[in-house]
Amino acid sequence: MSTENTNTSGLEGDYDTLHEFIKAAKMRTHPDAWDYLTGGTETETTLRRNRAAIDRIALRPRVLRDVSEIDATSTFLGKKVRLPVMMGPVGGLGSFHEDAGMEVARGAGKFGAPMMLSSVSTQPLNEVAAQTNSPFVFQLYVRGDSDVIDARVDTALEAGCDAFCMTVDTAVYSRRERDIARRFKKPWRSGTLGAGMEYQAALSWKEIERFKAKHKIPLILKGIGTAEDATIAVEHGVEVIYVSNHGGRQLDHGRGSMDVLPEVLDAVGDKAKVIVDGSFSRGTDIVKAMAMGVEAVGIGRLYCYALSAAGHNGITRMYEILENEIVSALGLVGATSYADLSKSHLHFGEPLVTEPNVFSAFPLLNLDDPGYGGR
Ligand SMILES: Cc1cc2nc3c(=O)[nH]c(=O)nc-3n(C[C@H](O)[C@H](O)[C@H](O)COP(=O)(O)O)c2cc1C
Repeated sequence: MSTENTNTSGLEGDYDTLHEFIKAAKMRTHPDAWDYLTGGTETETTLRRNRAAIDRIALRPRVLRDVSEIDATSTFLGKKVRLPVMMGPVGGLGSFHEDAGMEVARGAGKFGAPMMLSSVSTQPLNEVAAQTNSPFVFQLYVRGDSDVIDARVDTALEAGCDAFCMTVDTAVYSRRERDIARRFKKPWRSGTLGAGMEYQAALSWKEIERFKAKHKIPLILKGIGTAEDATIAVEHGVEVIYVSNHGGRQLDHGRGSMDVLPEVLDAVGDKAKVIVDGSFSRGTDIVKAMAMGVEAVGIGRLYCYALSAAGHNGITRMYEILENEIVSALGLVGATSYADLSKSHLHFGEPLVTEPNVFSAFPLLNLDDPGYGGR
């Protein structure tokens, strides 16, 4: 079983369930940064729909399938990974750990998971990439002209990146009301890092066409939310379609990512790989997305909790627990690997009656109770 490697983090016993990271992170994180991390846009409806769209899918288990050997490993961009769970790009990582992206990359490398580094990062790309041998992608917010993009591609290639990602759901920076209400001024939204929003607003398919004609590095478009745009992306030769609504942090009143996924997978077929993120928090969540046919699943907030709680070992431990949950879910639906999964394992039912929220995947979490366990 792929759980044989368990406890390379050395944190077994300190963190044994995922919600324990949230509790520890809350105690270590400044309230401004905590709201920045956990919040969404305006009414936070997209954020809640992300979770609702996952929750409304029930699993259809098959039995008597000999699941004594289960392989939870996979491939990402042609490279072997210990889990098909990628740490998505997160700006402002320094609010959760002083060594920010370097520490995330150490955790990714130690466990064997893919990651993307945000262009909001202030650490040199080559130094961060050097911390991991697992698939590594640079994510760009386009805040400059084509020459600026090309220079970023050169830097990504020099750092050995496996792919280049452009985030395309951020033409306008949304109203994150928690931050506005706190008068929280994010350092990475002022000065050089915050400049050039006009390029982000003006970005169009013309730039994607130019990029694909010029560059060989695989291109990932992050923030695709409809079959229509997935089709255009594929027509432009984009290798990876990343279904995402930015964790409910950009357009409010959008659809949950798992509600978007079926139409995108249908539109893309085998012409590109599809990855997805948005409130994926548990092993069963990953199994549901893999059963639909994605290449990998992205996580955002979850790894920031682990980073804040215990640095790179926290990230490694988070992955160990997630791996355990995934192996358990695979075995209980009667699958020995992702290849055994199909849509026949999924039942699209009604949403749960309970109101979903950013923490609702963790029923034992009690943020008011001192101590890590939350019980
Ligand atoms: C604190 C924070 C910062 C983020 N920064 C970026 C970023 O710099 N670039 C980007 O493309 N997406 C960014 N995202 C979105 C994530 O990459 C990802 O799409 C999202 O967090 C997935 O949802 P989840 O947090 O519910 O897993 C950020 C998300 C969070 C929570």
